[in-house]
Amino acid sequence: MKAVIINSYGSPDVLEYADIDRPKIANDELLVKVSASSVNPVDWKTRRGDLQMLSGFNFPKVLGSDLSGVVVEVGQRVKKFQPGDEVYTFVNPLSGGAYAEYVAVSEGNAALKPQNITHAEAAAVPVAGLTAFQSLMDLGQMRPGQKVLINGASGGVGTFAVQIAKAFQARVTGVCSAKNRRLVEGLGCDRVIDYAEVDFAQELEKYDIILDAVGKRSFAACEKVLEPGGVYISTLPSFDNIAPNLGSLFFPGKKAKLVLAKPSPRDLNALRELMENGSVQSIVDRTYPLEQIAEAHAYSETHRSVGKIVVTVEQL
Ligand SMILES: NC(=O)c1ccc[n+]([C@@H]2O[C@H](COP(=O)([O-])OP(=O)(O)OC[C@H]3O[C@@H](n4cnc5c(N)ncnc54)[C@H](OP(=O)(O)O)[C@@H]3O)[C@@H](O)[C@H]2O)c1
Repeated sequence: MKAVIINSYGSPDVLEYADIDRPKIANDELLVKVSASSVNPVDWKTRRGDLQMLSGFNFPKVLGSDLSGVVVEVGQRVKKFQPGDEVYTFVNPLSGGAYAEYVAVSEGNAALKPQNITHAEAAAVPVAGLTAFQSLMDLGQMRPGQKVLINGASGGVGTFAVQIAKAFQARVTGVCSAKNRRLVEGLGCDRVIDYAEVDFAQELEKYDIILDAVGKRSFAACEKVLEPGGVYISTLPSFDNIAPNLGSLFFPGKKAKLVLAKPSPRDLNALRELMENGSVQSIVDRTYPLEQIAEAHAYSETHRSVGKIVVTVEQL
């Protein structure tokens, strides 16, 4: 099968469109024929070797985490899926596997794809949509009427977070650059802040939840604009934004939390419902065929993409 592999860590030039063997499935796995994947920053961080202490040194590696496709084979113990089912999920980005024609997926991580959208739109959802959903619902315990600020509202995680927060009747402030104001307003934000003009952390307005989707503002900077008992959530594990504040978890008051997205079928099913009832949609900036993955990575590495970058593998 065709897949995108790397034989060493490095720039987008190390990405090779190659022929490799199809993965073999275990008893509790599905073999999924991939229709589309999408680019997440963790994919190019893995490619660069930023996470090599976790991703290791066994090459070749197939990169890619998000996928939407069709089940073509099931392991002997699989009960919930059968060949022909359309599924979406993500595989561990550090071990990868989704930039390929076929990928092995654990039954316990897969969910049926939303019926009203294409595989390309569905492949945009898993990592970014689950990060947004689990941040707001699990870590933030978001309730209707709460004031929620999304920093990085125009990115992959941010565009989902704004829509999910609005779907749960939060009052949402989105932070982005001027060029993305109209898009973020269109997603339903009650207020949009251009970060070049206004520093939300210096204003009087306070928030119940601050989701720093792009890991640009520390808990220390945000603390004074959190309501009592408010929660700051970051997508990035850095010393500045989380480590000095881990103590906050053990005391009453404002809390700093770090999200680590998990491929939960419960949450993928919740996202499917939100997509099927029209509350949430994938915002797709650019689409690249799998052969052009190097360009897709280079674009993502500019940090200027809007919504998601989709990678098409095969029309199914
Ligand atoms: N912990 C986890 O489980 C997890 C899961 C998913 C992602 N992440 C991490 O979360 C981060 C965001 O992921 P993503 O997929 O949303 O990235 P992305 O789509 O590549 O983010 C691009 C967006 O970032 C915005 N941006 C750049 N600088 C900004 C700033 N200073 N303030 C506000 N917005 C800014 C850009 O908007 P403008 O052009 O308007 O500035 C652009 O729309 C990445 O570092 C990723 O690795 C972590």
